[in-house]
Amino acid sequence: MKIIKTRDYDHMSRQAANILSAQVILKPDSVLGLATGSSPIGIYQQLIRWKEKGDIDFSQVQTVNLDEYVGLSPDHPQSYAYFMRKNFFEEAGIRPEQTHIPSGLAKSGEEECHRYDELIHRLGGIDLQLLGLGLNGHIGFNEPEEAFEKGTHKVALTDSTIQANQRFFKSMDEVPRFAYTMGICDIMQARRIVLVASGSNKAEIVRKAFFGPVTPKVPASILQLHTDFTLVVDEEAGSLI
Ligand code: F6R
Repeated sequence: MKIIKTRDYDHMSRQAANILSAQVILKPDSVLGLATGSSPIGIYQQLIRWKEKGDIDFSQVQTVNLDEYVGLSPDHPQSYAYFMRKNFFEEAGIRPEQTHIPSGLAKSGEEECHRYDELIHRLGGIDLQLLGLGLNGHIGFNEPEEAFEKGTHKVALTDSTIQANQRFFKSMDEVPRFAYTMGICDIMQARRIVLVASGSNKAEIVRKAFFGPVTPKVPASILQLHTDFTLVVDEEAGSLI
């Protein structure tokens, strides 16, 4: 595990964007595993700026996103498909056919999960997976459990995640209760993993996940076992390590 300590959110975003950028420069047809949420937005903004300057070209990449809410269409403003288009794909010049995300409207959850795992396999696996960290230690929507779930699966979101997501919805009732998420094995098979965490509310879980025991009760802790894992924290999130 490599740890990069940065000053603040902007500095963290630039450092992580540099790693993604190097990945795409060295392998223009990289398969990028991407995340939504507050943590990666600064990275996406930085990458868009470099794309506009002509320093990076995403025309050959393929992207696979970690997760999607069950029941939300790709046009719902809180769907992760919509988030990715508005925060990254459109301005980065990444065409819809290059992007992949579980379908929140799939009729059969089981078939959708199988399709998604097959797709990742067909693309040749993930070259670089970008992750955020949930307050309860989740990665993707792999919530604390008794055992690690391997492949893409449907998950009931925990109360802490539902509450954390509430800020994006008009009322608590509208917050989806289920999501599809890549499993721990999908994530761990990525050739390189970068996790970004910022803010004092992440400090305790950063310490637990990366300096505590490896346990499915803190799903991110498994990343300690990955051979090319980089943790990028700002000063606040890294204050206890
Ligand atoms: C998002 C995802 C989640 C988030 C995590 C942190 O696709 O899979 O695991 O990365 O909930 O969210 P933020 O960055 O909003 O603190």
